[in-house]
Amino acid sequence: MSLRRPTDRLLYLGRRPRTPLTPALSGDDWAQASPARIERALARARALPAGGWYAVDASRLIDGNPRAYAVAGQRLVLWRDQGTLRAAPEACPHMGASLVGARVCDGALVCPWHGLRLGSGGHGAWRPLPAHDDGVLAWVRVDDGDPPTDAPILAPRPSGPCLDAVIRMEARCEPADILANRLDPWHGAHFHPYAFADLTVTRADDEALELRVAYRIAGPLVMEVDARFHCPDRRTIVMTIIDGDGAGSVVETHATPMGPGRTAVVEATIATSERRGFGVAARLGPLLRGMVARQAERLWADDIAYAERRAWLRWRDS
Ligand code: FES
Ligand SMILES: [Fe+2]
Repeated sequence: MSLRRPTDRLLYLGRRPRTPLTPALSGDDWAQASPARIERALARARALPAGGWYAVDASRLIDGNPRAYAVAGQRLVLWRDQGTLRAAPEACPHMGASLVGARVCDGALVCPWHGLRLGSGGHGAWRPLPAHDDGVLAWVRVDDGDPPTDAPILAPRPSGPCLDAVIRMEARCEPADILANRLDPWHGAHFHPYAFADLTVTRADDEALELRVAYRIAGPLVMEVDARFHCPDRRTIVMTIIDGDGAGSVVETHATPMGPGRTAVVEATIATSERRGFGVAARLGPLLRGMVARQAERLWADDIAYAERRAWLRWRDS
């Protein structure tokens, strides 16, 4: 159901999708947004394996100074040792000092309190955890009962020149609330009118959601694309542009549990374009990256409110 009033004039930029628009469902958006359908899609996603991997933050943020994160109920530090990503418990096994203040020396963390060297062999119960750098995101593998895999289960990303921007925001909800928000595209043009001028769901089955969306560049200037949402693992939902300008670009939203009732939204936008000059633009990384990240943060400010409300309703009723 279109939100666009007949008097609205939208000016389309770029290449529009080639196929005719075929809505999957009829009726108003609120009627299409069936809670039972969203719950079914969510249950299907939550049954998928994730190999024990949790997206933590932007890979480029992790350097030689350990940074602390809460992941799946554990306090961890992530750092880089001669370029290689490392992860380990955040508390020193001696008297509990925070290893955020540790020096990295010859492949070991040196505790700031009494100088205990903590290397890859571990110390007592303190053991480094497997870490993975996919070039965009930093991941850690936690022993959570999921059969472990060597690397995270990633959906296809664009090949060739691309621009990536990562945001990390925290929410008072469970990972399922973050996925449920993205499994409900029907709220898009209503809840984010500044971002989406028009949105029609063209496929809504157990495997994927597809939609045609006109997203605002500025005022009446929009770009129209076809996008698909699917979940490659139980904590991730990926939007892929399948037709229109920027086809192949993805937005990966990872919902990483921090602890009870706390979730980090780690979202990577990996944009590509067949347009000439995109390679040059992609090399202007920092400027464009900041713009893309600010847009993603604005959307997530609303979507976190949605996810937190969903969690609050459930907690209230339990
Ligand atoms: S607390 Fe780390 S060496 Fe003592
Ligand atoms: Fe949203």
